[in-house]
Amino acid sequence: MHTTHREKPDAEAGGQPTPEGNHAAASLYDFMVVSNRLPVDRCAPEDSGCEDGWRRSPGGLVTALAPMMTKTDGAWVGWHGAPDETITPFSHGGMDLVPVQLSNDDVELYYEGFSNATLWPLYHDVIAPPEFHRTWWDSYRKVNRRFADAVVQHADHGATIWVQDYQLQLVPKMLREARPDLKIGFFNHIPFPPPEIFAQLPWRRAIIDGLLGADLVGFQRSSDAGNFMRSARRFLGASVKQQQVHVKGANGETTHIARAQAFPISIDVKQISELARKPEIIERAQQIRRDLGSPKTILLGVDRLDYTKGIRHRLKAYEELLADGKVTVEDAALIQVASPSRERVEQYRLLREEVEGTVGHINGTYDTMQNTAVRYLHHSYPVEEMVALYLAADVMLVTALRDGMNLVAKEYVTARTNNDGALVLSEFAGAADQLKQALVMNPHDIDGLKDTIMRAVDMQPAEASRRMRSMRKQILDHDVDLWSADFLAALKEKVVRDDS
Ligand code: F6P
Repeated sequence: MHTTHREKPDAEAGGQPTPEGNHAAASLYDFMVVSNRLPVDRCAPEDSGCEDGWRRSPGGLVTALAPMMTKTDGAWVGWHGAPDETITPFSHGGMDLVPVQLSNDDVELYYEGFSNATLWPLYHDVIAPPEFHRTWWDSYRKVNRRFADAVVQHADHGATIWVQDYQLQLVPKMLREARPDLKIGFFNHIPFPPPEIFAQLPWRRAIIDGLLGADLVGFQRSSDAGNFMRSARRFLGASVKQQQVHVKGANGETTHIARAQAFPISIDVKQISELARKPEIIERAQQIRRDLGSPKTILLGVDRLDYTKGIRHRLKAYEELLADGKVTVEDAALIQVASPSRERVEQYRLLREEVEGTVGHINGTYDTMQNTAVRYLHHSYPVEEMVALYLAADVMLVTALRDGMNLVAKEYVTARTNNDGALVLSEFAGAADQLKQALVMNPHDIDGLKDTIMRAVDMQPAEASRRMRSMRKQILDHDVDLWSADFLAALKEKVVRDDS
């Protein structure tokens, strides 16, 4: 995608260069991505993966957007992960970054509170009970305004702005009010709940109204787009025709048409495929297997340590398979990478205690001097190590109870350049819509999950190859560049008004 940016007149260009990054001259951009987090987070030298005070931010959103942003001239607006630290716009990894500051209070109320203890559980099937607090909502509004202001300050006339995810649902309307010249897109990386659940939110109207400020609202699955439109109809009385809403201004005039549509996100196929073919990564995968005592089967789970990921269900099923003697620690090893996430949010603290207690119990019961049942790693790893793990794993376990997409599933399939290996995939992950040749199952059904794990462990090479080829074709034909290109092309499309 080609975009441009121009320097701002001197008087408007404020700020000091950061010590670690190159200072990006204050600019006006004709393309901007806005997300809660920047692609890099502040870190201390002793943190793993920290280079020059920065490390890659967690989560699928960054995995998906970074490849596009390194190829454009646009800017990325977001929080840099350090409360109360003011940083001026800078460049990093070939991207122009515009930091938005959050105070300690903002982190507690807007990020940990409203985003991750109200919206996150509400949008993920209320797996954990959402909490509703008016102080959190006030902070959410205030911080959304701050993100919108940062865009307004840096967007050129007629710029395209692409707002990301549930933390910033009020930003589209704020932008439209301040800058009607902008083209505004929004993409929700997580599920959008059915109106019957969304109804619980005391501020449901304001959220729908905020999102309808966009010209195009993108979702992972068509069921998410459908849920959103049903909520628009039910809670705002919007008249929805063919996934379009004619949005009215204060005087009842149509200001614009907002559309909702599914755009299933994907991964940087080229990056993962190239890494998977590198001799040193192949060697590292073999080393991992040797380090585990060369078991016949390596099973792998890779998740942020989040209650939506079904880690407890996976461990329960695995423990029962060990108890039943269907797998033994000599023949099989389960690696569970659980990257640290949202550690100050109560539900995440409880989950960590529970998962670590369960792993300790399983290992205490089944380990031998030579073999460990579950190799549990509470770390984040660089992509090279992740690809080595994907290559080492005969069976990948994605058992999410609800997940917008799950890019780990797509990365695993892409790394299997020999067309071997088996993917066990939850029907509640968006990826199940595309990866139909995975072993799709319901993670709440522990017996079903156990049977599916055993089907994967025992799968014959011919069947594995047939399934993997078909899944690889799907992903190779739909990589993340196509995702962003499709969304941005749809955003540009002229919408025909049907006022009848
Ligand atoms: O896609 C879901 C998401 O919340 C992203 O918005 C985010 O970047 C990622 O998961 C990681 O979460 P967090 O930024 O809260 O660590």
